[in-house]
Amino acid sequence: MSAILAPDAPVLDEDPFSDENIANPYPFFERMRELAPAVFIAPHGYYAVGRHQEAGIVASDYARFTTEGGVGMSDIRKPGAWRTRSPIAELDPPEHTRVRAALQKILSPLVIKTWKEKFAHRAEDVAERVVAKGNIDGVADIAEAFVLDVFPSVLGINVPPERIKLTGELNFNQIGPNNERVARTLERAGPIMDWYQQVLQREYMLPGGFGEKIYLAEDAGDFDKGTAPLHVRTFFRAGVDTTIAGIGSTLKLLSEHPDQLAKVQANPALIKGAFEEALRMESPAQVMFRTTTGEVELGGVRLRADTKVGYHMGAANRDPRQWKDPDRFDVTRQTTGVHRAFGVGAHVCIGQMIARLEAECILGAVLRRVRRIEPAGPAQWRPVNTLRTLDVLPLTLVGA
Ligand code: HEM
Repeated sequence: MSAILAPDAPVLDEDPFSDENIANPYPFFERMRELAPAVFIAPHGYYAVGRHQEAGIVASDYARFTTEGGVGMSDIRKPGAWRTRSPIAELDPPEHTRVRAALQKILSPLVIKTWKEKFAHRAEDVAERVVAKGNIDGVADIAEAFVLDVFPSVLGINVPPERIKLTGELNFNQIGPNNERVARTLERAGPIMDWYQQVLQREYMLPGGFGEKIYLAEDAGDFDKGTAPLHVRTFFRAGVDTTIAGIGSTLKLLSEHPDQLAKVQANPALIKGAFEEALRMESPAQVMFRTTTGEVELGGVRLRADTKVGYHMGAANRDPRQWKDPDRFDVTRQTTGVHRAFGVGAHVCIGQMIARLEAECILGAVLRRVRRIEPAGPAQWRPVNTLRTLDVLPLTLVGA
């Protein structure tokens, strides 16, 4: 007999990771959200949560929704798992609290502030180049050109951009189901996997980067012995593709909404709002998983014990219960701390200040130099299981 007197979560026999739903997830998100606060996704055997309130509960209530089984769809504690544990993202408090505090010291606001000048300087270079060119790809020429330069340089690793992109794609595919996309990326990434393990090791850390500081913190006993390369891997995975995705989506939305672009140009303080609103509308991380620690009730439905639960932030960030006109791009909307693009609770993104600093520097540098940003062809999304990111964004920049 069940101790929880609530009806079972309804079953939805649809694949959130089908080509169609990955290309345009929003109609599926609406069906899932409107059916119930949590629905059982039959093809993959997990519960999907798409409403804002319940997504917040799943993300943060670790007593009922643990991260110990991993933030991906496979349970990393069980045989056959296709991912290995992150020593920060896949621990519950109190163990997580100690690790997070040590990393927070390495990435304190004071430390991040010292990067500002360097970021601003690099942003000016990128912006100057693209405005001179006029017809550009907003992904390759702006978002990637900037992030793949500044982030590895503060992390302190010297790596070819193409390899960072490939390992990032692999990571965000592997958070989802073990489907064809994973197989195809594994095939492409196979030849560089040995290199990938090596490049995370101490001897590859450049002096002064925060990768080196992670190793020094391990020496000081702040982390368990042997976890430093896995921390570096987590930053590598979490910090690059997400920020590229967010900057790309901001450019796309600004180019499609000249009225909103005009508002930002009239008041550059709104650059922050434009970036946050883009993260809300096209959340880079689309879903993260937890595992039920026992039978639980969520929003009036019953979830089975020891089962994966995905909180779909991409859906929660367009939940009409939370947002007025959720499909409208509005750079003045108050979203910071409310949207779920950075998660919520103990695991809320530790790099959000870095992402914001990068976005403000590069978007500011480009916007200061242009009168208009116009779409110059169809934008294409890259098909990745759990990352909403653009592949190509043709733009025309009209100089000021
Ligand atoms: C727009 C850019 C970014 C987005 C959308 C994003 C998104 C997220 C989300 C949703 C989580 C929570 C995961 C969960 O609930 O399980 C998270 C955690 C994390 N993020 Fe970010 N992130 C971004 C940028 C960055 C950057 C630049 C860094 C690198 C410094 C970073 C490092 C991390 C780490 C290490 C965690 C794990 C924190 C923990 O478990 O305590 N992220 N991020």
